[in-house]
Amino acid sequence: MKAIIVCTSSSHGNTRKVADAIGDVLGAKVVDPGEISPVELAEYDLVGFGSGVYFMALDKRLRAFVDAVPEGQGCEAFVFATSGMSEPSFRPYLRNLGDQLTGKGYELVGGFACRGLDTMGPLALIGGLNKGRPNAEDLTSARGFAEQLRARFD
Ligand SMILES: Cc1cc2nc3c(=O)[nH]c(=O)nc-3n(C[C@H](O)[C@H](O)[C@H](O)COP(=O)(O)O)c2cc1C
Repeated sequence: MKAIIVCTSSSHGNTRKVADAIGDVLGAKVVDPGEISPVELAEYDLVGFGSGVYFMALDKRLRAFVDAVPEGQGCEAFVFATSGMSEPSFRPYLRNLGDQLTGKGYELVGGFACRGLDTMGPLALIGGLNKGRPNAEDLTSARGFAEQLRARFD
């Protein structure tokens, strides 16, 4: 099974920690959108897309990358994010990303989210929200998520 993870993680590297944990289990390289062409994803059996959340949206570079993925070259895909707070029901950014990928012909096989250190604005004055996260427990959960994905190919 050939897997790759496309990840943006611009604030504290929180999402990258999750991506690395998942990538370690899947034997997948983790790349920034600038390091791969959307067309190249067709070479993989499983593709992960992950980002931090900024102003109630996934990173615009990841969104632009997914916009540029051609339709109909789909394989299996999963999505993940870290954020200061859980996804609000009125703004389901991770679900929307999954829907977009499904619309492009990917089979969405999973989603993962956890909290990450958030020092946005005044939160920095108190040392941030979710200090130390993603923590060991979050990364163990991420690895468990990846093991389930890997088992699909056993
Ligand atoms: C400019 C900025 C805006 C943010 N906006 C949100 C937000 O709307 N909702 C939320 O839950 N977290 C928000 N956060 C917190 C980040 O989603 C969280 O810190 C995340 O783990 C960052 O991931 P990264 O370190 O991979 O970039 C924001 C953080 C920054 C720096």
